[in-house]
Amino acid sequence: MTQTDTSALMEITSRPPIVFTEGNGSWLTDSAGKTYLDFVQGWAVNCLGHSPKPIVDALAKQAARLINCSPAFYNEPMARLASLITQASGLDQVFFTNSDAEANEGAIKLARKWGALHRAGAFEIVTMDHGFHGRTLATMSASGKAGWDKLFEPKVPGFPKVPLNDLAAVERAIGPRTAAVMLEPIQGEAGVFEASDAFLRDLRALTKRRGILLILDEIQTGMGRTGRFFGFEHAGIAPDVMTLGKGLGGGVPLAALVAKREVMCFAHGDQGGTFNGNPLMTAAGCAVMVEIGRPGFLAQVAETGAYLAERLTQLSRVHGGGVRGRGLLLALDLKRPIGPQLVERARDRGLLINAPRPDCLRFMPSLNVSRAEIDQMIAILDRVMTEVVAPAMAK
Ligand SMILES: Cc1ncc(COP(=O)(O)O)c(C=O)c1O
Repeated sequence: MTQTDTSALMEITSRPPIVFTEGNGSWLTDSAGKTYLDFVQGWAVNCLGHSPKPIVDALAKQAARLINCSPAFYNEPMARLASLITQASGLDQVFFTNSDAEANEGAIKLARKWGALHRAGAFEIVTMDHGFHGRTLATMSASGKAGWDKLFEPKVPGFPKVPLNDLAAVERAIGPRTAAVMLEPIQGEAGVFEASDAFLRDLRALTKRRGILLILDEIQTGMGRTGRFFGFEHAGIAPDVMTLGKGLGGGVPLAALVAKREVMCFAHGDQGGTFNGNPLMTAAGCAVMVEIGRPGFLAQVAETGAYLAERLTQLSRVHGGGVRGRGLLLALDLKRPIGPQLVERARDRGLLINAPRPDCLRFMPSLNVSRAEIDQMIAILDRVMTEVVAPAMAK
């Protein structure tokens, strides 16, 4: 019997009374046997879909061999995954973490240590309004999410905020206490707002000129999500430090702090953790890297993303709104706060989508989602939008 009594769990968010029991590709099945087309995929985590064979095989093989030794020792998948990431990114060294926020926390610590050593104790990190970097105390302080400035006071100091794509504001915010600038190439949680390629290029030049670090949070945009391996490739730049997560483990908890050799200044004991670089998780990460690195995979993501954008644009012509984003990280701008209603109705009809803010929907399907599945999603959404939008417009 499936356990469907959820009362022993802490109520940390509003969840529908559904318990999922199985997943396959773009599809989830709940305990009652109802199937759902999943365009959330664990918040862009299941980059190859639910229970894909390469990850299932990698986990089974690794579990039978070695699940855990200790972070005090090297293990083989940990070393292999670090090499694969450095080869793909052009950066030099990796520290694995269990959560995305922990990777960003590590980036913040690295920048502060670097500032202490190389910029006379500089510790400030300029971050962006509406940015999202996680839910630890430091990453919440680094985030520019509305309403968070008053939560869990006092905040960790040292994160002056500027508007995204405003180079002059960044320039004004940089002072002797500044160690780094940190941002997402596309602000996902904020509702899919892109840092322009020109802004990223100018920011790279500015940070170099002022002798400070550029940290990119590629947790949502990395691992092929935008049609390139990493979001920064579109702008033709390279950061000093980057964080990866979500798709990196293909569904298992795995994230990474990645840095250029010359900025890696952790001394023994500065950074670590019991589960960091666990062989089971990193074996899954290796399988993901191999699949994304296959010839044609990223081109396919870009093509599928263009198709999804085109279908969403058609939908917005009928129901109003607009489309933004890149690759398979797209948002439908609804221009009115009907997102939560659409999410609920779509779920009733067997479609999972996400509204990161009330006036938009975000689409983060698996990177190998098919055109037929996109068509199915659009058909359900069209019906749901007709039900919700048409009466609202008639008022
Ligand atoms: C860009 C970015 N950074 C960091 C995080 C924090 O991730 P987690 O909650 O998995 O630690 C998220 C989560 O959505 C994210 O989108």
